[in-house]
Amino acid sequence: MDVPLFATSLAPYHDRMSEAVDRVARSGRYILGPEVEAFESELAAYLGVRHVVGVANGTDALTIALRALGVGPGDEVVMPSFTFYATAEAAIVAGAKPVFCDIDPHTFCVTPETVKAALTPRTKAIVPVHLFGNVAPVRELREFGVPVVEDAAQAAGADLGGVKAGALADAATFSFFPSKNLPCLGDGGAVATGDAEVAERARLLRFHGSKDKKTFTDVGYNSRLDEMQAAVLRVLLPELDGWNERRRAAAEAYERLGLGDHAALPRPVEGARHVYHLYVVRAESLPVGRGYYRVPVHRQPAIAVDVDLPGTEEAARTNFALPMGTDMDAGLVGEVIAACASGST
Ligand SMILES: Cc1ncc(COP(=O)(O)O)c(C=O)c1O
Repeated sequence: MDVPLFATSLAPYHDRMSEAVDRVARSGRYILGPEVEAFESELAAYLGVRHVVGVANGTDALTIALRALGVGPGDEVVMPSFTFYATAEAAIVAGAKPVFCDIDPHTFCVTPETVKAALTPRTKAIVPVHLFGNVAPVRELREFGVPVVEDAAQAAGADLGGVKAGALADAATFSFFPSKNLPCLGDGGAVATGDAEVAERARLLRFHGSKDKKTFTDVGYNSRLDEMQAAVLRVLLPELDGWNERRRAAAEAYERLGLGDHAALPRPVEGARHVYHLYVVRAESLPVGRGYYRVPVHRQPAIAVDVDLPGTEEAARTNFALPMGTDMDAGLVGEVIAACASGST
């Protein structure tokens, strides 16, 4: 099968992205200038949040969001182990201890029950991950009375009951890594929040802990979104909803054309509009696809904690990401299903 796992091409946007890059190259403003400011307002308007702070990548976005909410040494952060390693790494860089909770293998997301089981008096934040483009049940998680930071790296444009992922909690973080639903041409990320003080602290932390470049009140990071990436993101953000519609259409085609005969299909969390960053099914074996997070974070050598997470282990063992992207059509979907069928007989 030669259908790529990420079936998305930016070719139709090359000219407009080049014009945007050219505009920045000629402007003489390369760091924290008008493009970043404009992108921050445009993304905030799209998400329906008050503040967006552009940063260098999605990992820094999480570290900065956690620190902006006051998370630090001695604090625990509850999060899934079935996620990209960066979710836990970011909390450790902030000085905190990740405490891993289980997931529902049908949705690949945490549940109120799994999070509740991991809460302790030292819990300072909960980080639900909107994995593969699903949306974790954030509303129920907020009822625990602990700050919630959505890791929305994989879920740009998804929503839960009409509220965008990224606008559901105390803060949220995004990655614009090139394979993400909203990509840039390198690394980029953002923190979104409705809280002016959290936004202000995130701005400070992304620039070495300084407001005015003269007085340094915190030890922060050099973690800025640059003008070229912001200019590219301004070209691509208006395309996001259309792209996500195409991803959803491909997911519907997988279901309609019978993939469910060969594998357990991904299940949106109740009320969620999934954006299928990845289309991940579960099966004992499949002749196509790629397994994600086969060694979940709690079993990685740098972390290695002894915790019983049966849903996580099942998801890690049985998941297969199948081709998905903005350029999938029913023909490609049919080819993938035919390949699955040939291997399952
Ligand atoms: C769930 C999740 N969290 C965090 C990150 C980190 O983002 P970045 O690669 O931009 O640092 C990623 C992506 O790579 C991710 O998939």
